[in-house]
Amino acid sequence: MKSSDEQKLAEAGAGLEDIVACNSEICCIDGTNGRLVYRGYDVLELAEKSTFEEVAYLLWYGCLPRVTEFKAFLDGFTGSMKLPVETTMILRMFPKAATPMEVIRTAVSSLGHWDPDSGNTGLDACLRKAQRLTLRIPLLVAAHQRLREGLEPIKPVPGHGIAFNFLYTLQGKEPDPLVERAFDVALILHADHELNASTFAARVTAATMADIYSSVTSAIGTLKGPLHGGANMEVMQLIDEIGSPQRAERIILEKLAGKLKIPGFGHRVYRCEDPRVSVLRDYARTVTAHTGRSIYFQITQEIERVVIEQTRVFPNVDLYTASLYTAMGLPRELFTPIFAISRIVGWTSHILEQWANNRLIRPRAEYVGPADRLYLPIEDRSR
Ligand SMILES: CC(C)(COP(=O)(O)OP(=O)(O)OC[C@H]1O[C@@H](n2cnc3c(N)ncnc32)[C@H](O)[C@@H]1OP(=O)(O)O)[C@@H](O)C(=O)NCCC(=O)NCCS
Repeated sequence: MKSSDEQKLAEAGAGLEDIVACNSEICCIDGTNGRLVYRGYDVLELAEKSTFEEVAYLLWYGCLPRVTEFKAFLDGFTGSMKLPVETTMILRMFPKAATPMEVIRTAVSSLGHWDPDSGNTGLDACLRKAQRLTLRIPLLVAAHQRLREGLEPIKPVPGHGIAFNFLYTLQGKEPDPLVERAFDVALILHADHELNASTFAARVTAATMADIYSSVTSAIGTLKGPLHGGANMEVMQLIDEIGSPQRAERIILEKLAGKLKIPGFGHRVYRCEDPRVSVLRDYARTVTAHTGRSIYFQITQEIERVVIEQTRVFPNVDLYTASLYTAMGLPRELFTPIFAISRIVGWTSHILEQWANNRLIRPRAEYVGPADRLYLPIEDRSR
């Protein structure tokens, strides 16, 4: 007879599905009704009216800033918008074959060595580190991409936000205002998503009282997988494989018949369409038309139609980011790093929340291996 503790352990399904692992005041997902809320504000309203910097303030400090608070915040923020020279030196040393996601995992970890608050574990210092990471990750992703293309990294323009400066330091020209706004909205929509796999990884590391850089490095490694942040890149591969809207139905049906998962669909929590999809779909439609790349949008719509008709599995945040980012001229290897450019705000908010009321995260495993085996000397083992 199993004890009730053992029974609970056995019931904890693979993937910790529906297990509540902590209390959080940061983000709420209503997976039945398709609602996403940051600190009490509906993400759709934030996407319409706010900016990524204001949302970052909201997630870190728990409230929207007043005018003077926001000005002081942005002034401090702009001052940190530069990469340590050592980081650029490190970026030059990576092998050509290293992917952007591998590079940012390693380079973000190394940033901790050149943080002036390194070793200071006070709340203010940790907030400054969170903000430095938020400013430096986009610069790092852009600088590495330029080096891969044989170009020199360029400096950000003071007084502009993260969306502008990521696109500027990557592409070497001021972004089109529509593209900049669409990118800013994509950053807002990806900024947090409750206990997704990478945020959970960040909280597990933080709960050991390891430092913020170690916690964020855990999160980046977790984001990299195709079942999490890597899916947006795979959507673009699928769009390219399909090539034209007319071919979408046949190819998707073949994949479904082969029991393959279609990237950009399905979610552990949403049982309906992910609320972020409607905003991203609208921007993908507008930006692909604006930049003469509507074909990518049309193919995505066909994929969406066939997958929903066949499976009743709904699109997730990654489906329309693929065509949207491609229409902005962003290479697909950067899609997952872009996820990190936004989610760093959510990761660091959760790390700070974890530390505010910390308890080591240490679950149990139900042992299902062999029992009571006899140790035989090596020469007596038949197998
Ligand atoms: C996100 C994901 C990992 C969630 O997985 P999960 O919660 O473990 O859900 P499951 O894999 O058990 O799927 C439940 C059912 O929906 C189906 N399904 C889920 N995602 C699907 C997809 N992308 N394409 C086709 N069918 C899918 C499964 O085949 C399964 O059907 P079944 O019950 O008939 O076997 C999964 O949906 C997936 O792999 N999606 C593609 C990758 C992706 O877009 N990831 C980004 C997530 S934001």
